[in-house]
Amino acid sequence: MNFEELKAKDKQYIANTYARFDVWIQSGKNAACRDESGKEYIDFGSGIGVNVLGYCNPGWVEAVTKQLSALQHTSNLYYTEPAVALAEKLCKATGYRKVFFANSGAEANEGMIKAARKYSFDRYGEGRSTIISLQNSFHGRTVTTLSATGQDHYHEFFFPFTGGFVFAPMNDIEALKASADETTCAVMVELIQGEGGVMAADVEFIQQVRKFCDERDLLLLIDEVQTGVGHTGHFLASEAFGVKGDITSLAKGLGGGLPIGAVLLSEKTESVLSYGDHGSTFGANPVVCAGANYVVDQILQKGFLEEVQKKGLYIRDKLSQLEAVEELSGLGLMIGILPKEKKAGELANECLKQGLLILTAKNKLRMLPPLTISYEEIDRGLAVLESVLK
Ligand SMILES: Cc1ncc(COP(=O)(O)O)c(C=O)c1O
Repeated sequence: MNFEELKAKDKQYIANTYARFDVWIQSGKNAACRDESGKEYIDFGSGIGVNVLGYCNPGWVEAVTKQLSALQHTSNLYYTEPAVALAEKLCKATGYRKVFFANSGAEANEGMIKAARKYSFDRYGEGRSTIISLQNSFHGRTVTTLSATGQDHYHEFFFPFTGGFVFAPMNDIEALKASADETTCAVMVELIQGEGGVMAADVEFIQQVRKFCDERDLLLLIDEVQTGVGHTGHFLASEAFGVKGDITSLAKGLGGGLPIGAVLLSEKTESVLSYGDHGSTFGANPVVCAGANYVVDQILQKGFLEEVQKKGLYIRDKLSQLEAVEELSGLGLMIGILPKEKKAGELANECLKQGLLILTAKNKLRMLPPLTISYEEIDRGLAVLESVLK
């Protein structure tokens, strides 16, 4: 099949929900991938923050294939070792107490929302279930996570949406407090709004939210689907903000390229979900967990996250010298680039032609490269970006 035939069949047989870039990716190694003609691209997007160890990391491939040959799946009615090992690792790395495994970011957030509402129901009974979410947030594509998303255009067509979400502006603690009432049970935040344009919350604001939650026994729900698992140079971005959530959701990078979501439950919330309250056929799949164990082991190795921070600073330093860059945002290797004049979408398409895959978010270019990207790969990608920005 040639590329034109592939595109035609894609259009014919796959629901047309994605505006794809004009490229057919066939293989990859670390931060570089190839199309059907053999042309190489540096990938600054890592499949939207997923391939944290790059394409086809040999250790990860070995961990996954070894598990695949032993046991590909069994139901959650039985014990398996990879999920237990992963849960233990995540708890020890983050200070959370228990993990519920799901298959995606939206599912992890669904679990987080359910756990928050159940916590409140168990303590206070009915009528205390409203969650304050932030304007401009993004929490997923299921009906409930769309409802939790603070952007109006996600609240079209799919009525009726799940009730019980109100929205407060980021970085305005008084407005957030004013949006709380006796029905409120939780506050849900992204510490850096990824899809919303790589917009970091102020540390002080997040700490004030934490304090407010403690005063009212509201749960702080932190969506670390995009910020978690190393991209900010910390295992959890919350470490950089000096707070711990009552529940945190993870997904994307955790599996290193296989679908996983995780709900991290703290001391306060660890016992909220009990038999029958929640479940998932594929959640805690042994192959996916074997890959995730490898990812977490690598990221927690001494010096790994410091190296992520150094690479982040290196990239920021180079980008900040470019005349065509108006502003940089984000943390570590989660980077937003506001171009001075040109449109982000047009720039991303031009980058593609010149051999660079880069993401956009609102009016910005967005980088979420693999954490293992080499300096040589960074320089090659930045050279393209620089010439396109000019
Ligand atoms: C912060 C955040 N939450 C949730 C999601 C949804 O994750 P998924 O697409 O895996 O359902 C995303 C995806 O971009 C995200 O960035």
